[in-house]
Amino acid sequence: MQNLKEKIQKLKREKNALILAHYYQNDDIQEIADFVGDSYYLSKIAKECKEQTIVFCGVLFMAESAKILSPEKTVLLPNIEAGCTMADMINGEDVRELKKEHPKAKVVCYMNSTAEVKAESDVCCTSSNALKIIKKLNSDEVIFIPDKNLGEYINEQAHVKNMIFWNGFCRVHEFVNVDEIMDIKNADEHVKVLVHPECNREVRKLADFIGSTGEIIDFATKDNCQKYLIVTEEGILYSLKNKNPDKQFITPKTPMTCCSMKKNTLNDVYMSLLNNQHEVTVDENIRQAAHKCLNAMHEMTR
Ligand code: 13P
Ligand code: SF4
Repeated sequence: MQNLKEKIQKLKREKNALILAHYYQNDDIQEIADFVGDSYYLSKIAKECKEQTIVFCGVLFMAESAKILSPEKTVLLPNIEAGCTMADMINGEDVRELKKEHPKAKVVCYMNSTAEVKAESDVCCTSSNALKIIKKLNSDEVIFIPDKNLGEYINEQAHVKNMIFWNGFCRVHEFVNVDEIMDIKNADEHVKVLVHPECNREVRKLADFIGSTGEIIDFATKDNCQKYLIVTEEGILYSLKNKNPDKQFITPKTPMTCCSMKKNTLNDVYMSLLNNQHEVTVDENIRQAAHKCLNAMHEMTR
């Protein structure tokens, strides 16, 4: 009797499919994936890969972005309930209103947004390239949606004269308890604190390093400290520990778990490959407009 992981590998070969997984996915999914990465890296792989079928183990906006970039490919999201609450905090109508209020502003949307919101925006960004993109835009007025924390963090460095924010945030990162971080820092002065920019300012102030999931892993891998406090979703620990077996990684006392990311199970991946479920589709008019926004990001970060 073949185990589930073997069955997935066999089906994947038969269907010439590629399995992509975000760093927040369950360990067993990261283990069987062809590529594991942050949202920017995965969108590049999805755009450039030769395979006709992509099983995107992440959340809907990630799979949707893959479909927008490669409409000819079949993009599957193993569990259709894997959404992102931050992405759902703003819709296309909200963006149109903002544009009416600030007609001269450039609109930069975080990758964590719906296709409809991307379609209304000038350029997309992720936390690993947002600063580069804002600097290249060189605009005095920027509407940054939907993550107020990432926007604020970027503008501490980019100093756009008028950056207009939306009150969007990620529940996993917004409600990190500052005292829990302080307790760990006070107990051990050698621990380095690595923080995702979706965290609020009070938490960012305590960081030794701030970066995307991929950048946090790179930093910990190249740095010569022994112990790190990881202030982002706990799924990242799988790749961190794999790449750094001799280092110690600890987390805040209150778990940082993205329930949406954890919706995808290994069995969902198998069923997804077996039955082509759940195929992600995007309305063609929206897709074309959203493609311009995503493509602008890839062009500006080349
Ligand atoms: P990254 O771009 O760092 O992978 O982050 C995506 C995300 O959803 C963070 O909550
Ligand atoms: Fe969305 Fe937050 Fe989950 Fe990232 S961690 S996918 S921003 S809900």
